[in-house]
Amino acid sequence: MKVIIKHTNDDVAKAACKLLMEKHISSTSKNFVLSLATGSSAVEMYQKLIKQNTSGNFDFSDVYTFNLDEYVGLSAEHHQSFRYFMNMKLFNHVNIPEANINFLNGMATDISSECDRYEERIAELGGIDVQILGIGSNGHIGFNEPETPFESRTHQITLTQQTKNDNQRFFADDESVPDKALTMGIQSIMDSKSIILIATGKKKAKAVADMIQGEVTTKCPASILQTHNDVHIICDQEAAAALTTSAD
Ligand code: F6R
Repeated sequence: MKVIIKHTNDDVAKAACKLLMEKHISSTSKNFVLSLATGSSAVEMYQKLIKQNTSGNFDFSDVYTFNLDEYVGLSAEHHQSFRYFMNMKLFNHVNIPEANINFLNGMATDISSECDRYEERIAELGGIDVQILGIGSNGHIGFNEPETPFESRTHQITLTQQTKNDNQRFFADDESVPDKALTMGIQSIMDSKSIILIATGKKKAKAVADMIQGEVTTKCPASILQTHNDVHIICDQEAAAALTTSAD
């Protein structure tokens, strides 16, 4: 694991964007396959990617995307769906062909086929080149909550109360966070060639320390990343506060 600690959110986003662009340029894959996270952590990096796309430095025309997860029961048009979030934060502002965007369907009636379809599509495109991750305050990656088996593939999960509380900020007061979501599994994430995890803010400090310095255990799903051979953790000082290393 390479741990990069930056002073500000902006520095974190810059470092993540730069690394992703380097991976894109040096990729030897036929299709460049990028898997993305929703939530706050990656938003500033998406803003930087949009700028790079607008200025002609990052071409999305050959990029295929997947996203880690989607709420069950929310359609792509629903304003709280992760698909809607990605349209607003990235897809609507870059030259990615619509057909290259892959997403889990939160309205699928046959959950098991939907999960299989997603895994098959990833495999058809040659696997994920770069996986962008955030981390939950409970150590989840994707929506793989504590105790999810490390060998899991795309599946339906029930969100913990902690995750629902953490994500309530994206919903109106009279709306509640759905109980269930579809998520790529931990093994689906670990199969990625390269992983960039972004963590900012003091709420992430314990999870970040457990991930990097704790034992590898399903109690902290992100701890499995210690066993991957190409992982960059890019975090700000607040998220790194429980570690012993210092900022660059
Ligand atoms: C989102 C996802 C989650 C988030 C995590 C952190 O697609 O898979 O694992 O990355 O919950 O969320 P934020 O960035 O909002 O703190």
